[in-house]
Amino acid sequence: MDEPTGWYAVALSADLEPGTSAGTRLFGHELVVWRDAAGLAHVWEDRCPHRGMRLSFGFVRGDHIACLYHGWQYDTAGQCRYIPAHPDLAVGPMIRARTSPCQERAGMIWVGWGTEAGDADATEEGAAVAAPVTPLRSLYLDVSAERLATALGCPPGTGLVHFDLAGSPVLVAVQPLAGAASAAHIVVPASPAAPGADLAGLASACTALRRHVEGTLP
Ligand code: FES
Repeated sequence: MDEPTGWYAVALSADLEPGTSAGTRLFGHELVVWRDAAGLAHVWEDRCPHRGMRLSFGFVRGDHIACLYHGWQYDTAGQCRYIPAHPDLAVGPMIRARTSPCQERAGMIWVGWGTEAGDADATEEGAAVAAPVTPLRSLYLDVSAERLATALGCPPGTGLVHFDLAGSPVLVAVQPLAGAASAAHIVVPASPAAPGADLAGLASACTALRRHVEGTLP
């Protein structure tokens, strides 16, 4: 069966500092999420084209990410630009990491899965969140994305979901990690009517939500 396509949140923006990288999954595929020194986020296949080492184990150097194993460096387009064992080599265009379209909306990093950079943006609702959001938490759950979506009372798929978390409105995006594993990225929309959200209380509510979802859904 074909995998769904569309835009999926893979991390909270606030959890990825410039010059850092992290590994994640989408539909069982290993991904590296990294942010260059200029602050731009990138989502790629988590695999070095040389011998397959995870790029999420590597290091960000300015606008390059360097593989931990032999130090090959890739620019923001995925093109290999530097091979330490052959420092004077002009690396050919065939040596490049597999990249995906990436955007930041509503305090989250989104990857376009099976989409092109110019395709319709399923995160438009996120773009419509004009006011700043406050990052809350990313919850990682041992339930499928479909069951998580059911628990949140939303249809499975991509995009932002409005959810009432212990009486406070939050925005949630579901990430299908793999099989019976999913993530919920949660932010608090700024609201003139309810300034100063009780973030500590909401964080506790997140924990209770996870227990509820994992405990009541087999
Ligand atoms: S496996 Fe990445 S540089 Fe060799």
